[in-house]
Amino acid sequence: MLLENKIGLVTGGGDGIGRATCLAFAKDGAKVAVADVRLGPAEETVALIEAMGGEAIAIQADVSNAQDVEAMVDATVKHFGRLDCVSNNAAGGATFALLPDMEEANWDKCQSVTLKGVWLCLKYQIPAMLKNGGGAIVNISSLSGVRGEAMQSPYSAAKGGVIALTRTAAAEWARDGIRINAVNPGGIRTAGIKRYFEKVPHAEKNTAGVHAMRRLGEPEEVADAVCYLVSDRASFITGTTLDVDGGIMINPHTL
Ligand SMILES: NC(=O)c1ccc[n+]([C@@H]2O[C@H](COP(=O)([O-])OP(=O)(O)OC[C@H]3O[C@@H](n4cnc5c(N)ncnc54)[C@H](O)[C@@H]3O)[C@@H](O)[C@H]2O)c1
Repeated sequence: MLLENKIGLVTGGGDGIGRATCLAFAKDGAKVAVADVRLGPAEETVALIEAMGGEAIAIQADVSNAQDVEAMVDATVKHFGRLDCVSNNAAGGATFALLPDMEEANWDKCQSVTLKGVWLCLKYQIPAMLKNGGGAIVNISSLSGVRGEAMQSPYSAAKGGVIALTRTAAAEWARDGIRINAVNPGGIRTAGIKRYFEKVPHAEKNTAGVHAMRRLGEPEEVADAVCYLVSDRASFITGTTLDVDGGIMINPHTL
């Protein structure tokens, strides 16, 4: 029970890696605020947690909207009394095109949800954590933000920004007991990657092969890494990134 008696908050908790993280937080003993722009899927995640005997609330929040984010943090603290561990997981607005063909509106939408959304979350979560003497935050970036990704210039740039933001926030708040790290997933089997495969059909055939393990990851494999990083077991880790990527960054192609 890595997170016994902790209060957790996950954005984008209605599906994919976010839902798996909510369930993992609950299995490890946390009470969980499940936030999502879509209330129905967030409520489904809450029902899954309650079916395991855990405690959770659903909160409708668009992470690109400052009022929603402030209300999300307030609702969590009002309901559970404090905020200890967070995964800023929600992302959105990714479209797939070569850079000159990408619409400016796509750039703006993707930065607004995927990068500004994480900044807004940090802006309101940090003061809430300071009130209870600290906490731990994991921002979900992506291998695309480290090595770049053809056809995904706004998304890759936003995810690179999430890493820089993570390090900056970690530097600001380390002395106050708040640890802030990022997890970079490789290709993970979710509705999100399914949408990508539908739009870029040859990507599905090629994606598994770029991982040294020659497979996609499962959402639970990312969730376990997040649980570790927000737990007290990771007490001397801040401002870093953990790749959960089946070995994308090592070169398997000579085998
Ligand atoms: N699946 C992958 O292969 C992969 C790889 C690298 C990084 N990631 C990152 O992991 C995270 C989760 O990805 P996923 O594949 O599980 O996504 P997903 O699309 O399966 O689920 C995302 C959830 O976020 C919610 N959401 C979308 N926009 C939101 C907003 N503005 N405010 C609040 N909630 C919002 C959606 O409603 C959905 O429930 C994202 O940050 C994504 O970029 C995923």
